[in-house]
Amino acid sequence: MENLLVLQSGGPTAVINASLAGVIKAGFDNSKKIGKVYGSINGIEGVENQTIVSLELFNNDENLRLLKQTPASYLGSCRKKLPALGEDDGLYCRIFEALEKYNIGYLCCIGGNDSMDTANKLSAYAKQTGKTIRVIGVPKTVDNDLVITDHTPGYGSAAKFIANCMRQIALDTDVYKMPSVVVLETMGRNAGWLAASAELANDSTLSAADIVCLPERPFDLDAFLAKVEEVSRIKKTVMIAVSEGIRDKDGNYIKENNPRGDKFGHAALGGAGKTVESRIAGQLGFKTRSIELSTLQRCFAMGTSLCDVTEAFEAGYKGVEFALEGHTGVMPGFRRISDNPYKMQIVPLNVCDIANFEKKVPEEMISQDGFGLTEKFREYALPLITGEPELVYKNGCLQFAPSVI
Ligand code: F6P
Repeated sequence: MENLLVLQSGGPTAVINASLAGVIKAGFDNSKKIGKVYGSINGIEGVENQTIVSLELFNNDENLRLLKQTPASYLGSCRKKLPALGEDDGLYCRIFEALEKYNIGYLCCIGGNDSMDTANKLSAYAKQTGKTIRVIGVPKTVDNDLVITDHTPGYGSAAKFIANCMRQIALDTDVYKMPSVVVLETMGRNAGWLAASAELANDSTLSAADIVCLPERPFDLDAFLAKVEEVSRIKKTVMIAVSEGIRDKDGNYIKENNPRGDKFGHAALGGAGKTVESRIAGQLGFKTRSIELSTLQRCFAMGTSLCDVTEAFEAGYKGVEFALEGHTGVMPGFRRISDNPYKMQIVPLNVCDIANFEKKVPEEMISQDGFGLTEKFREYALPLITGEPELVYKNGCLQFAPSVI
């Protein structure tokens, strides 16, 4: 019988291991068709180096439950770009030799945009060379920027964290008599979905996100400062969310740490909030504090969304089922049937249509002045942050899956 291999790559999320749990569970549930379940350490690099481990310890409900609530990529990650087909045959030969050595018939690559590129190239290479291995991309990314799919596992939990941070910080900021401004910086690269989620902090009892700056709109400092002043005239504290990826009208990032970028051409971002903070304090004179959520927004496993955890698991499980049905080069994607009641369908989408594209926040979800979100966004995003899973704690601390390495 052929075996199943799973790997994780790209930036982690709080629910990426729920997808891993889904893949593993589907592997064990299909023991008449699948032999062993293996994991590759550090993504595709682990296949190349043959650092491949048995995941037999998860043939156990308790360990699987702990895996579902473990943040960060349990199997480790990498940001490796595979060369175009025909550019480095040696590398592809090494990868496929390892896959043959472990008798892998099914390979699941859990990841975002760049990991879909890996899945796409591996399935194309397999087809080209007449190999029968089925390669599946299982979606994850806090950025929510995968195209075609309605949304991506990982986003809902990060969005829930951001919205709840905004609400709690809003109360803290309001304790003094003097006016003040808070700037919260989110991840998300060139797509503003994470910054947009700050909008979900607002309800009839609390205005916790007054201004949201998305990379979808050029950052105009004068218009921005005018907006801050406008809000400050009606509210003592001004709550702002900015995306790490905001750019000026010439397309330059407000703050960029590595302009040459990584192997996928992504700049290292972070620090836009601090830059905005100094402009507000310097030009308007308000007490201003910036908060960079950084990795917390993607690894905070104590406040995940039940909807997100459940869907992440299902995406992994369905990925294996698609492979068993004979699909290759596909990703289980989400198709929205309805908002209310919230209903999704998981369908196979071709990874070649997804790899290397970015889904931005559409115009219809952005307010006219560009500093807020519309009701359409709330309808879209609210179901994704709904529900709280029951978590296992010991001595007050969240428990994680036992290490396999
Ligand atoms: O992969 C998504 C992401 O979390 C982005 O939002 C962020 O810009 C990037 O990863 C950070 O990557 P790293 O952790 O590799 O620095």
